[in-house]
Amino acid sequence: MHVRSFQESDRGDVVALWNSVFADDPPWNEPNTVIDTKLRTQPELFFVYESQEKVVGTLVAGFDGFRGWIHHVAVHPDHQGHGVSRLLIEAAESGLRELGCKKVNLQVRKGNEGAADKYRSMGFSDEPRISMGKLL
Ligand SMILES: CC(C)(COP(=O)(O)OP(=O)(O)OC[C@H]1O[C@@H](n2cnc3c(N)ncnc32)[C@H](O)[C@@H]1OP(=O)(O)O)[C@@H](O)C(=O)NCCC(=O)NCCS
Repeated sequence: MHVRSFQESDRGDVVALWNSVFADDPPWNEPNTVIDTKLRTQPELFFVYESQEKVVGTLVAGFDGFRGWIHHVAVHPDHQGHGVSRLLIEAAESGLRELGCKKVNLQVRKGNEGAADKYRSMGFSDEPRISMGKLL
């Protein structure tokens, strides 16, 4: 049981996990597309948690030279509540720090208070921002 960077043989597990926990995601977050995109940029910041040779947790991080971002934090329902996301976040923070990143951000969809509470317990705080996005 450990955290490590994604490897190609993890693809099936990751696609199944994301299809299950992010079932309502928009089409541009299609799992294979996200994986292919991440593998082109800082693939070392794509973390998975492996248990008994199966990937049961994921986290995708990135650093743009100024801020770090964390997204696609997912833990298989059978493994939730055992600190898996905490280990993934710690790995991401360590990887980002090594790249010189001083601040990391993440977004939580409205209504996902359970996830927000967990991030708060891991040192993240609410910031007064209007989160905006635009499809290109
Ligand atoms: C949100 C999610 C990633 C959390 O993963 P997890 O592995 O179950 O979380 P952890 O067990 O690591 O919990 C992290 C910490 O939050 C704390 N915590 C757990 N439930 C909590 C709650 N309801 N309120 C406050 N803190 C809580 C735990 O105590 C733990 O701290 P500890 O390690 O000191 O005990 C997981 O529930 C998930 O995949 N959900 C579906 C997908 C999703 O919503 N992803 C987030 C998108 S932003």
